[in-house]
Amino acid sequence: ADRSVQVKLVLLGEAAVGKSSVVLRFVSNEFQPNKEPTIGAAFLTQKCRLEDRVLRYEIWDTAGQERFHSLAPMYYRNAQAAVVVYDVTKASSLEKAKTWVKELQRQANPNIVIALAGNKIDLVQPSPSPPSTPGSPEPEDEADDATATPGENAGVEAGEGENLRQVPRDEAEAYAQEAGLLFFETSAKTGEGIVEIFTEIAKKIPID
Ligand code: GTP
Ligand code: MG
Repeated sequence: ADRSVQVKLVLLGEAAVGKSSVVLRFVSNEFQPNKEPTIGAAFLTQKCRLEDRVLRYEIWDTAGQERFHSLAPMYYRNAQAAVVVYDVTKASSLEKAKTWVKELQRQANPNIVIALAGNKIDLVQPSPSPPSTPGSPEPEDEADDATATPGENAGVEAGEGENLRQVPRDEAEAYAQEAGLLFFETSAKTGEGIVEIFTEIAKKIPID
């Protein structure tokens, strides 16, 4: 028999921040570069294995477009967990996330576990630099600092996408702590931080 505990979880957040993509990564370990906007909501399930138990998430992936806002209470009503997503390259999406958190804290189950996820972190990280040749930390030629091209690797070292970041990690993390939320920076594209959201939430769901 399936003895796993069912956990109803809702995703909320501004349109196009990547809610459906986060779920697709968690449920299927896939990414779609041109994912279509959600209409209404989508329902998916996925098991989550902890050391001592297995949970079965029943996931409501809501539509972020404003015209669907009034449907949200149907999905967060009775939810035991919520993932509120924003886009680290879009400051307004954190403000929208804060309004969702306020709404949840006012209207949802008082014991709801809420996680804040800053998604699209791949856009603000340096692309991985090519691996250096093993055993030869320096180039073969005798270039010293004086002859090296100035700033040759500056873009890579500084992170070529860093200018896209509109929400500093510290700022979002401080807000999350103050509001009593779990906090993650994630990429549905690379998978970074995705499983962690659901695992950390699972650890906070009481056994009953
Ligand atoms: P609504 O359903 O309209 O509320 O949008 P959503 O929040 O579900 O966003 P969705 O998952 O549809 O993603 C919107 C766009 O962003 C798509 O083109 C995705 O491929 C892209 N996207 C989602 N997550 C990421 C990510 O982590 N990195 C990058 N680079 N793009 C992403
Ligand atoms: Mg969607």
